Amino acid sequence: MYNYEFITLSEDETINLGHEIAKGLSPGDILAIYGDLGSGKTEFVKGICEYFKVEEIVTSPTFTIVNKYNASSSDNQLVLYHIDLYRIEKEIELLEIGFEEYLNDRSAITLIEWAEKTSLIPDNAILVKIFLDEDDDNKRLITIKSPKEFKIGM
Ligand SMILES: Nc1ncnc2c1ncn2[C@@H]1O[C@H](COP(=O)(O)OP(=O)(O)O)[C@@H](O)[C@H]1O
Ligand SMILES: [Mg+2]
Repeated sequence: MYNYEFITLSEDETINLGHEIAKGLSPGDILAIYGDLGSGKTEFVKGICEYFKVEEIVTSPTFTIVNKYNASSSDNQLVLYHIDLYRIEKEIELLEIGFEEYLNDRSAITLIEWAEKTSLIPDNAILVKIFLDEDDDNKRLITIKSPKEFKIGM
């Protein structure tokens, strides 16, 4: 496992970090994103979507649970699934939304907000944890634990 730690001091820095991480992602990857409400999970996802040239407006799919974005990297088209589990109360609901099919879709990159709501995160997932700072409203500690290495120039 590779472990990384970043401090961001603004929304834009978190978006940039998402953009940098996205460079190392490929179809089949699953990102499990943990962190309190307002910690910056969606901002991080926005950065990933920016790198993959997603044209839709990226917001937490709070009511739909899952947003599907058409994306591209260099010449290849791919799909990004953006899942928000905030409203999930029981794990059985995950079966209803076809959660496992998203996890098993090797042609897509799957980004999961509120990953703490499920025990189905696979062992090979990339774990992103975002921590608020007690003293500074704009500061975040972001840790990444990944089975693959990222080369991040920031
Ligand atoms: N360093 C930072 N990184 C990310 N967001 C930040 C940061 N500092 C302040 N913010 C603010 O925190 C909020 C994060 O919101 P959002 O990404 O929707 O959170 P979540 O999806 O985790 O609920 C935004 O209003 C953003 O402007
Ligand atoms: Mg969100």
